[in-house]
Amino acid sequence: MTNADFEKIVNTSDEWITTRTGIKERRIANGLATSDMAVAAARAAIEMARVRHDEIEMVILGTVTPDYRLPSAACVVQEKMNFPNAAAFDVVAACAGFINGLSIASSYIENKILKKALVIGVEKLSSFANYKDRNTCVLFGDAAGAVVVSAEEGESGVISTYIKSDGKYRTLLWAEVGGCVNPYSQSFDFDGRDKIIMNGSDVFKIAVKEMGNATIKVIEDAGLTPADIALVVPHQANIRIVEALAKRLKISMDKVFLNIEKYGNTSAASVPLALDQANRTGRLKSGDYIVMVAFGGGLTWGASLVRW
Ligand code: ACO
Repeated sequence: MTNADFEKIVNTSDEWITTRTGIKERRIANGLATSDMAVAAARAAIEMARVRHDEIEMVILGTVTPDYRLPSAACVVQEKMNFPNAAAFDVVAACAGFINGLSIASSYIENKILKKALVIGVEKLSSFANYKDRNTCVLFGDAAGAVVVSAEEGESGVISTYIKSDGKYRTLLWAEVGGCVNPYSQSFDFDGRDKIIMNGSDVFKIAVKEMGNATIKVIEDAGLTPADIALVVPHQANIRIVEALAKRLKISMDKVFLNIEKYGNTSAASVPLALDQANRTGRLKSGDYIVMVAFGGGLTWGASLVRW
């Protein structure tokens, strides 16, 4: 869906969306469920990692748009892909869902509880966006990305991780209707309150601050400096947030991976999608230190420093 498509449904312009967000297009997964996208990403990750399905001991799926309220999308993926030896569960941390999932997987592996985990970030935000609200609908797209995390000898892997949240900001980015406090009711006009509601400018300011803090924390915890980082792979919410992050780290934008122009904000899918594209386009070299960092509804945020 292009910016021109949005000009036809809400009072907006390509110029506003491009200059305020950096987004030109986003992908809409018509006819696909969240689990279908997750399965496609998981298959590609498993093929690339050359692991057998029965070796996967944990499936962690970050999403706020599961197929059903019950069960988890992770269990749907487990059944569709046949992971007989895995525990499967969803992580609800909005755009930070993948970073939270990666931190759980790497902790289990470091503590020698398991050897192989599959971490998926997936989102069908088109089913959850309010296409009458120009403040939010132009931002979001659908996508999935996945990684296999394995216990291996050697230098590469997750070096440091940091996750955090602050629930006092929960109504800055939320869906008010649809939970047990405000259940769906046939006689009630939801007026978009069952879709994404966001106070964009407040979220923006906290995102700039906390994405910077989280990135610096994982770099310092690893005994490194921003100059040691070959590539930052940030959550793609807004190009201005990413530019502010680069400025705070005093690194040039060519050390930051960007694909927001084509995909928009894909929430939990954003970081693994960008990571995969960085990898497939040769941006990641063996031994490189990279930082993945994300921020989302909750509010939640986190970062992970990985040696590639
Ligand atoms: N087209 C044209 N005008 C618009 C649009 C639009 N699509 N959207 C908003 N505007 C208008 C507003 O109505 C406002 O008009 P007004 O001044 O007459 O009231 C004006 O533009 C400025 O609005 P702001 O909200 O101040 O714009 P801002 O520069 O903050 O940009 C944006 C808005 C893009 C949403 C930005 O705040 C942002 O990116 N916020 C962070 C989003 C984020 O990181 N979310 C977290 C992850 S998402 C998740 O967890 C699912």
